[in-house]
Amino acid sequence: MNILLLGSGGREHAFAWKIVQSKSCSQLYVAPGNAGTAEIAENVSLGITDFPAIADFILEKEIGLVVVGPEEPLVKGIVDYLQAKPETAQIPVVGPSKLGATLEGSKDFSKRFMQRNNVPTAAYETFDAMQIEEGLAYLEKQSLPIVLKADGLAAGKGVLICETLEDAQANLKDMLLDQKFGAASSKVVIEEFLTGIELSVFVATDGKDYKILPEAKDYKRIGEGDSGLNTGGMGAVSPVIFADEAFMKKVEEQVVKPTVAGLEKENIPYKGFLFIGLMNKDGEPYVIEYNVRMGDPETEAVLPRIESDFVDLLLGIGEGKLSDYELKISPQFATTVVMVSGGYPESYEKGFPISLSEENPQALLFHAGTGRNEKGELINTGGRVLAITGLGSDLQTALNHAFDRVKGTHWEKAYYRKDIGKDILKLYH
Ligand code: AMP
Ligand code: GLY
Repeated sequence: MNILLLGSGGREHAFAWKIVQSKSCSQLYVAPGNAGTAEIAENVSLGITDFPAIADFILEKEIGLVVVGPEEPLVKGIVDYLQAKPETAQIPVVGPSKLGATLEGSKDFSKRFMQRNNVPTAAYETFDAMQIEEGLAYLEKQSLPIVLKADGLAAGKGVLICETLEDAQANLKDMLLDQKFGAASSKVVIEEFLTGIELSVFVATDGKDYKILPEAKDYKRIGEGDSGLNTGGMGAVSPVIFADEAFMKKVEEQVVKPTVAGLEKENIPYKGFLFIGLMNKDGEPYVIEYNVRMGDPETEAVLPRIESDFVDLLLGIGEGKLSDYELKISPQFATTVVMVSGGYPESYEKGFPISLSEENPQALLFHAGTGRNEKGELINTGGRVLAITGLGSDLQTALNHAFDRVKGTHWEKAYYRKDIGKDILKLYH
């Protein structure tokens, strides 16, 4: 089968790496891909939201399965577009419908969905510019800190945790009246602050059945000790010790089952991955957010732990036959360290040649923002550049493998966090 994968990050390199290992894959195309996917698949220069060009490519190359990595094409309705065209309507696509993708595209929509379906989440109210006075008055009655969230997609920057009432009120005005996040903040969700420890849970669903993939912990901020600016994620660890059997049972019963049942009951077509950002608050799960795709860098730690055929999983999702699939998970540990360009997540320089360390089957290398210069040298082309995943029978061994390979990888101004997994290691002692 010929497969088309959309995206260009470390998540997509990990998907590609897993897809080409399957006997069901004859040719993999990645649009637009990166220097890593170019080594194992064919990169094609298609825009991920250029739906007509994608449809033409699918027909020309006789694609039998389409896998959508990032949220943007999903929120813009790629699945609905391909289904509405008679020539592409029958081709399985991994990714939810536009309505399903609204679970990530609108925080207000996702909060209302959780409320209707009794999924535990923080208390909240939503306000628009017309309701600014009510919003300011609502803030006065809340305890601090308080969380303000732009309703729409804001490139991971739309969440503000405010420590004082003045700060919260000023930010609410900026968001609603001065469009601090553009149209994304034309509505703002004001939400109770939850204390606890965060966890990423991944669910594959065909809209009726589901499989829970390995969980992961993400390291979101740029600085050690989780300090400084938020990023797309600087590292990940899987499995996560505090996500024990009892906690994961609660996640399944209280969060996953009502979510999937809610999608079906509300006729929200959803064949794809659902990434549930959770807070473990005194042993109870609360949903912080839904994302309608896999996480990055979590995917680079989660996929290496899947032992069963990955294309069969993708087909199970896309064809609505997930109940037939037997998911096999490896007990080994996977720890991912993300190497970024110096200056990320703010401005950074591109085009530096990268020297890679020796290959090691215990330390997988996934590319993100990489390309080749005119001399053919590997260079950094983005802020997030490489993700290196160490494997091992225990957490320390996996971390050692990851960091050994990271230390042998160089380019000018490269940066990574040295403390990935350290907090979890302490929990073992
Ligand atoms: P989100 O964009 O919804 O993932 O939010 C970004 C980050 O803000 C989350 O990963 C959490 O660390 C934090 N956050 C969001 N909502 C809350 C909340 N209600 N309580 C505490 N922290 C939160
Ligand atoms: N690592 C968080 C995300 O993918 O959104």
